[in-house]
Order: sequence, then structure tokens, then C-alpha cells
Amino acid sequence: MIFTVAIDGPAAAGKGTISRAVAETFGFAHLDTGALYRAVGVKGGDPVLAAQTLSVEDLARDDLRTLEAGQAASRVAVIPEVRAALLAFQRRFARREGGAVLDGRDIGTVICPEAEIKLFVTANAEVRAHRRWLELGGDEAQVLAALRERDARDMGRAAAPLKPADDALVLDTSELAIDAAIARAIAHVQAHLRAAPKQSPR
Ligand code: CDP
Repeated sequence: MIFTVAIDGPAAAGKGTISRAVAETFGFAHLDTGALYRAVGVKGGDPVLAAQTLSVEDLARDDLRTLEAGQAASRVAVIPEVRAALLAFQRRFARREGGAVLDGRDIGTVICPEAEIKLFVTANAEVRAHRRWLELGGDEAQVLAALRERDARDMGRAAAPLKPADDALVLDTSELAIDAAIARAIAHVQAHLRAAPKQSPR
């Protein structure tokens, strides 16, 4: 079965947690596409070359989740050639046999506009910064400033800006507990699977 769940939204909105839960529930593969941009951002040198030659080792680095890696990722993510170099891999992953969940910024709009399910997970900046601060520590005001800067860059760029797809279900987790958000996402996928015509046997 080919079935894609596209989960987009700004930093620390809960995309990763929801994506992992949906993937586990339905037995789908999961790709955190932000890790690709983080790996390009921290690699240094020419970002286009880094994206074209990204390796398994680059993606296994233990410094990809830092505040700095997030900022570096959003700086290289504005470069169209970087995005182009990462596109085919993400598309193949989305349409692989057995179902896939991808989370990022442009999955429902650019990488896989034909995705069966599109979710846009968001929350206000203060709530998101607080969550990221609980994860990373440091100075909360600095975490909020970095997150606002990254939001502005991700939404304002010309290439694949962050925005909800027209047909995305918006989940605002500002006041929605993560378990409730997961339950809504799972119910949405289930409803679609029930409504979909049965696949003919091959
Ligand atoms: O985990 P968090 O939401 O903080 O960020 P991430 O998903 O790891 O993404 C890091 C950065 O990569 C984002 O701020 C974007 O600039 C970029 N990104 C992107 O442009 N397109 C994607 N599909 C995923 C990430």
C-alpha cells in the first residue's frame, strides 16, 4: 500500500512526537526531514555539495538537535539547490511501499502534494519555546528569540516557505495536550483508511 502522512509545522510544535506515534500505530516508516537540513547545516563547507553528498554518518551525528544546528539548518534551507538535492530522496521515501510519515516544513506543499493525509501542527511561539527550553535547557528568552528568528526565515523564504497546504488539517497544540493531539491525528488517519476503497489484490 502506498500511503503518505505529511506533517508540517513550525519548530517545537509537536510534529516529531505526533509523527512517531502515527508511524508506530500504523506500522509506517518515519522520516524526520529536519534532520537532513540540520546535517547539511552543521557539516560546514559548501552547503550544496554537503546536501548532494549527505551520508549516513552525517545523519548519525549527536549534535544535530542543538539550538545552533537548528539555526544552521534554517540558513541552508533557504538555498534552492540544497532543497533540490534533498528532494528525490524524500519523494521516494514518501511513496515507498508500506506507508510513510514525513515531518518537516514543505511535505504537504512541495515534497508530496498527493499525500493522502496532511497535518499542519502548530502552537504559539511562547508555548513552543518553553517546550524546546525543557528539552535543551539554557536561557529561555534566548530559545524564544532563536525560534522566532527561525520561524520568520522559514515562512519568509522564497523556496518552499512554511505554510499549511490548502487541504491540511490544522492541529493547534497551544492548549491541546500532546496525547490529545496524537489521538486526533490517529483518528484522522483511521477515518481516511476506512473511507478509502479497498485495494485490489495484486
Ligand atoms: O525540530 P524542529 O521543528 O525544531 O526543526 P526541524 O524540523 O529539525 O527543522 C530544522 C530546520 O530545517 C527548519 O527550521 C527549516 O529551516 C529546515 N527544514 C526545511 O526547510 N524543510 C523541511 N522539510 C524540514 C526542515
